[in-house]
Amino acid sequence: MRKPIIAGNWKMNNTASEGVELVKALKPLVKDAKCEVVVCVPAIDIPAVKKAIHGSKIRLGAQNVHFAEKGAYTGEISANMLKEYGVQYVIIGHSERRAYFGETDETVNKRTLAALNAGLTPIVCIGESLEERESGLTQKVLDRQIAADFAGVEDLSKLVIAYEPIWAIGTGKTATDEQANEAIAYIRKRCKKLYPGKNAGRMRIQYGGSMNAKNCKGLMAQPEIDGGLIGGASLKPADFAAIVHFDK
Ligand code: PGA
Repeated sequence: MRKPIIAGNWKMNNTASEGVELVKALKPLVKDAKCEVVVCVPAIDIPAVKKAIHGSKIRLGAQNVHFAEKGAYTGEISANMLKEYGVQYVIIGHSERRAYFGETDETVNKRTLAALNAGLTPIVCIGESLEERESGLTQKVLDRQIAADFAGVEDLSKLVIAYEPIWAIGTGKTATDEQANEAIAYIRKRCKKLYPGKNAGRMRIQYGGSMNAKNCKGLMAQPEIDGGLIGGASLKPADFAAIVHFDK
């Protein structure tokens, strides 16, 4: 059995004090959550949000991590820096980082290995663009990302994959339940084939892209979908809590 994981990706939203207000409102709403509940917050919000979630079910995540342990990498944050603040999860290779900040499959792989090494749970984002889907290239893109991003990972059950079709992110255009389920089933099948004996069957795969309080039930009812990575709807406590309680 794979425990569902609902993670919020705040992106570059919420100052530390706004983030504290958000999690204060969220805490009572998710106190009976049966799934794992994570908020991935801007790095500078981490200390304040960590304090604010104390004693609750909410776990802390970051939105990026550098692959080196330390050194001359101005502006970057290492896995140990995150660890020391009680961060447990980190989003890696989000399509916005790939599109705007030069993230490549190679750097995604390096960051993933560094996070695992430090005992963080990476939430690695993969997925195709609209053009790639319309040209029938979805599986080819996923094949490339799976082969490159997870090379050298010893135990795939220690990471989470977020399947995020780029055309569904922040667009209000969600993949249908069937499209999401089919792509995620393919990702698992491919991981099993490429990485035999590495626990691909126990690895959790989320769907991400305009998931909200309304469409979460249908998506989460799909057998292959183990959770969600939520952008816009994670900024509203009631909406995020409704997704956390997708089974109610
Ligand atoms: P969205 O973002 O829910 O606003 O589409 C999802 C994501 O980018 O992780």
